[in-house]
Amino acid sequence: MRPSITQAAAALLRGELVAFPTETVYGLGAHAFDERAVAQIFEAKGRPTFDPLIVHVADHASAELLVTEWPKAARRLAAHFWPGPLTLVLPKRAEVPDLVTAGEPTVAVRVPAHPLALALLRAAGVPIAAPSANLFGRISPTTAAHVEEQLGGVVKWILDGGPTTVGVESTILAFPEGRPVLLRPGGVPLEAIEALIGPVEAPGPEVRATMAPGQLPQHYAPRTPLYILPRRPPPGVGPIGRLALIPPADPGDVLEVLSPSGDLTEAAARLFAAMRKLDQSGVAAIVADPVPAIGLGRAIMDRLQRAAFRPVAKPGLK
Ligand code: TXA
Ligand code: MG
Repeated sequence: MRPSITQAAAALLRGELVAFPTETVYGLGAHAFDERAVAQIFEAKGRPTFDPLIVHVADHASAELLVTEWPKAARRLAAHFWPGPLTLVLPKRAEVPDLVTAGEPTVAVRVPAHPLALALLRAAGVPIAAPSANLFGRISPTTAAHVEEQLGGVVKWILDGGPTTVGVESTILAFPEGRPVLLRPGGVPLEAIEALIGPVEAPGPEVRATMAPGQLPQHYAPRTPLYILPRRPPPGVGPIGRLALIPPADPGDVLEVLSPSGDLTEAAARLFAAMRKLDQSGVAAIVADPVPAIGLGRAIMDRLQRAAFRPVAKPGLK
């Protein structure tokens, strides 16, 4: 059902799930202090409970109520980028349920930059715990119809704000011993963060997986095997879908172009919808262009690499 903000806020406060748009992707929200409601998120998504949720708040003052300590860099980032696609992982207050943080001593917080998300947060008057509104491991939703496809059967309330504008999830930063560490590249480019607070550590996927539970090497995956060029499917596999940054010389059987002008911000906004289209088009494999790892290109490459097909190792073979 497409509820009004008032209906959606009331449903949240009753302990029901509400899907809502943010500027990055659609979220599947629950009242963050209602553990029964939060538990339903994990159930609806098939998400393991070791994977902590981001808590969305309406403003900085509401974030203060969740967090005990703010390193100076975190304060500057929040002041500069909120509302916006930046999530800060900070020491949590005792009242934040352990289910939300998967037992971590920290909580991930952000103020989303979307009028409907902010209206919902203000109307409900409580923080909203929300992961992306997709089944666990699958492609994140950038329209209300995407949410409906995967979660329509289990989520009654879906706020429709049209296609999201950023298209990839928020950038996540943590501050172990006060030093900034990039846990997930996302909607705020690393360059913009470093321009404000200086160098940020950017560990590889293995280290990230230990610092940010749920940052799994394989995620955001279409069901169709996806190859990042120059890797290609074995000969004879077809038809082929082509996920290209700009119109390519070898289009493939089904073509999705992310940005005719090669603009990485536009490409990020189209990435997940294009991946879904190819996945649903019946092709046997998807071949994707790598993009430069600058600006939003870093988040695009991260999502492509985690969506990429990994052959299953044959038992007994090393
Ligand atoms: O743009 C976004 O961030 C979207 C929208 C809905 O806000 N949300 C989103 O949530 O992408 P999700 O659940 O797909 O990703 C949250 C990730 C977790 O998988 C985990 O890696 C990290 O955030 N995270 C959350 N809490 C954390 C914590 N306390 N410590 C370390 N990492 C944490
Ligand atoms: Mg997600």
